[in-house]
Amino acid sequence: MIVGVIGSGGREHAICSKLYISKKISKIYCFPGNAGTSKIAENVNLDLKNFSKLKKIISKYKIELLIVGPEEPLVNGITDFLEKEKIKVFGPNKLCSRLEGSKIFTKKICEKYNIPTAKFGIFSNLSDSIFFLNKNKFPVVVKADGLAAGKGVSICQNLSEAKKSVEEIFNGKFGKAKEVLIEEFLEGEEMSFFIISDGVSYKKFGTAQDHKRVFDGDKGPNTGGMGAYSPSRLTDKNLEQKILNKIIEPTLLALNNMGSKYIGFLYAGLMVKDNEPYLIEYNVRMGDPECQTILPTLETDLLEIFIKACEEKLFEIEIKWNTFKSLCIVVCSKGYPGEYKKNIEIENLNKINLSDKDFIFHAGTLNKNNKILSNGGRVLNFVSLSENFKNSREKVISFIKKLNWDNGFFRKDIGHKVIEK
Ligand code: AMP
Ligand code: GLY
Repeated sequence: MIVGVIGSGGREHAICSKLYISKKISKIYCFPGNAGTSKIAENVNLDLKNFSKLKKIISKYKIELLIVGPEEPLVNGITDFLEKEKIKVFGPNKLCSRLEGSKIFTKKICEKYNIPTAKFGIFSNLSDSIFFLNKNKFPVVVKADGLAAGKGVSICQNLSEAKKSVEEIFNGKFGKAKEVLIEEFLEGEEMSFFIISDGVSYKKFGTAQDHKRVFDGDKGPNTGGMGAYSPSRLTDKNLEQKILNKIIEPTLLALNNMGSKYIGFLYAGLMVKDNEPYLIEYNVRMGDPECQTILPTLETDLLEIFIKACEEKLFEIEIKWNTFKSLCIVVCSKGYPGEYKKNIEIENLNKINLSDKDFIFHAGTLNKNNKILSNGGRVLNFVSLSENFKNSREKVISFIKKLNWDNGFFRKDIGHKVIEK
């Protein structure tokens, strides 16, 4: 089968790597991919907003299934467009993608279907927001409604911080804003919880804990994710059942009641307190770096899973996982998540001896004249599977130390909650 994968991050390299080992695969195209995917797929540069061009390329290359990695094309309706053209796509349609595309859309579903989440208010102007903030306890969380690439969320300790964040949102810092969301601050521990859905049934697709802050000790600004481990230390049967019954199933029902079916990965970002889950946000895709962390533990053929999901036949397949502890560390360009330099050579990548339980997934990399250059903020993902998280982390760090790349940095404490000092 010839497949296409949309995206250029570590998530997409991990997806391509799993597809590559499927017996049914004959060729993978990656739009636009990175230096890592170029080794196992053909990278194709393309404006992902130009759906008609993509359609033409899909027919030219005889692509039979398209897998969409990131949220933006999904929120823009890539699935609806291609399905109308009778092209098989794995990824939710535009309506379902609003779960990520509009935090207010999700909050309204939570309200209607009694899904546990932080208490909230939706405001359409500054003065109403301030009136509300004046009566509130702090901290509060101020959120822009739309996609903001991991930004657009501020945890505010006092009125002046909250006022500033609300003003920024109405002044268009994260795009045109009609409304702002102000939420109660939830205490607890975060967990990323995944399912895969075919529109009529779903299956669990792993758990992980991401580390969003840039520096050790969970300090500094938020990033896209500096590393993760899987499974999450919080997960157990009882909690999983609550997540499915109280959060996932009512959400899928809500979408059904709106006349839509959810096909794709669904990622629930949760806060867990006293063994009770609260929804923080939905993402309509796999997490990054959670995907790189979880996929190496998958034993079932990923292509087979995608095909079944597109045929409403997920029930026919048993998704099997190994029991290793997986840990991923992301190596970033110095300066990330702020300004950073690009086009700096990363040496020694080929000299690292990986076993079949170790993986390097590229993100912001570029292949130029047979040299690997950095091309983004998050650049490389190192993953290792072992009997315990401590060994996985030690192994990953020993690999990263073999790199010769002065412009890189990484967190050394990924998994600190599950690894004793
Ligand atoms: P989001 O983009 O909504 O996931 O928010 C980004 C991060 O902000 C989350 O991963 C949490 O760490 C934090 N956050 C968001 N909403 C809340 C909340 N209501 N209470 C506590 N932390 C939150
Ligand atoms: N790891 C966070 C995300 O994928 O949004």
